Amino acid sequence: MSTPQSNLLGKFVSCLLKKKNPDEFLEQSEKGGLQKTLNAFDLIILGISAIIGAGIFVMIGSAIIGTTERVGAGPALVISIFLVALACIFPALCYAEFASMIPVSGSAYIYTYATMGEFAAWMMGWVLMLEYAIGTIAVASSWTGYLIKLFEGFPFLPEIMRNPPAWLINDYQSALAAGEHIPHIGFIPVCMNLPAMFIIMVISVILFKGIKESANFAKIMVFVKVAVIAIFIAVGAFYVKPENWTPFAPTGLKGILMGAFAMFYAYIGFDAISTAAEETKNPQKNLPIGLIGSLVICSLIYSLVTIVLTGMLPMGQIDLKAPIAHAMSFVGQDWFAGAIAIGAIAGLTSVLLVLQFGTTRILYAMARDGFLPPVMQKVHKKFHTPWVITILSTVLILIGSLFINMQVAAELAIFGTFSSFIIVCIGILILRKTDPDRKRSFKVPCCPWFPILGIIFCVGIMFTALAEVKTSAILFPLWLVIGIVIYFLYGYQSNRKQEKLKIERFEESDTKQKSLK
Ligand code: ALA
Repeated sequence: MSTPQSNLLGKFVSCLLKKKNPDEFLEQSEKGGLQKTLNAFDLIILGISAIIGAGIFVMIGSAIIGTTERVGAGPALVISIFLVALACIFPALCYAEFASMIPVSGSAYIYTYATMGEFAAWMMGWVLMLEYAIGTIAVASSWTGYLIKLFEGFPFLPEIMRNPPAWLINDYQSALAAGEHIPHIGFIPVCMNLPAMFIIMVISVILFKGIKESANFAKIMVFVKVAVIAIFIAVGAFYVKPENWTPFAPTGLKGILMGAFAMFYAYIGFDAISTAAEETKNPQKNLPIGLIGSLVICSLIYSLVTIVLTGMLPMGQIDLKAPIAHAMSFVGQDWFAGAIAIGAIAGLTSVLLVLQFGTTRILYAMARDGFLPPVMQKVHKKFHTPWVITILSTVLILIGSLFINMQVAAELAIFGTFSSFIIVCIGILILRKTDPDRKRSFKVPCCPWFPILGIIFCVGIMFTALAEVKTSAILFPLWLVIGIVIYFLYGYQSNRKQEKLKIERFEESDTKQKSLK
């Protein structure tokens, strides 16, 4: 017998599981009127622009030698990279199938809404913030590292630029851990990564004004960073000493898995290609090419860089902050260390552009669905950008950058990305069952095995890492709990209000039409 309580509970659960039909998203995107201008080549550039950054210019150092919390892989990092490429290729195929079916902005958030319903979609959006917003903090603080590296090469610059005080280039946690002097105003510590905050603000101004110019800007930066990496590989190869590759795997399988976890950061961002689905010509064909193409190209680049870097200098000599530039200085090629700094700065800037862009567009999609206050749906009349969200997300990222250190931010971004990959793989399995007849111009081969392999790889690496990385292993579940609390305190109610408003509007226009007749 149904009681008022069980009815209420039933309604509540059905709201949590309420899905949006993919056709609704397609209709919404058609109304959006975005121009379809991107081809497969543009998508590959977008992918490389998002993928190659702090992962290869910074994280590779800690992936090889380890940190205080996790062991490194040593030269065997090349195997870790192969594992990560495998862990990414299966989700990439799933992204490609989704993107060819629902080619709209919003990426994994939209796919989750279509397959698992409202609550899972909110959690996906929340987790994507780890990948995009918290990922921004990690990349921005690496940007500072390379900026200082560049300044060091110019002796005529003022001392404060070449050798700035720690409290101006560090977050509070790192400065505290390193026992650095932190000035105080009253009881408030004054400690900030000023260059990182500066670049975050510059990028948000560009995003505020529009994405068109920034896309061309990104193309130039991709060219610079790929050229610099190519020269590093070509020049560095002459300094390789095979004895540096022994011992090949000093920390065994555990090190290889932890290396895979750390290098996963280098792959973050290729899913951003799917956020451009609405602006892609023939998305059914071009999106899979863009996703898989950029993944394969970047994997090749990463493997070559790892082989050369670990061959150039003994493991103990590898630098944590700017490993590639330092390797060049180590072999006496100081001039090139400066060029690498320029390549790295260009690379990191383009990654920041894509990550901050992704942050605003995912939040915008969530606001459009009623998960966030209506004011966040506002689009600027002149620049046609979601300006309220752009400002708000910048402020939040800036605040975060004061407290979260680069390693922890990178690890949190990795957990966020792993989670989204796992959910996208599950989503494909669900949609194949629930909507088998929907037109798919790209299909994951060997389904269900490939999505299942994607889940196994991602879960495997993620759980190995959870046992090792203490700080982020606490912060990640905490982030999920905060997400759940916000959903129940705000998102759920706000979504119901939005639904009610839609019904009222529909009834109003219906009554008007009837009265006109
Ligand atoms: N993959 C991006 C980078 O390495 C996040 O900077």
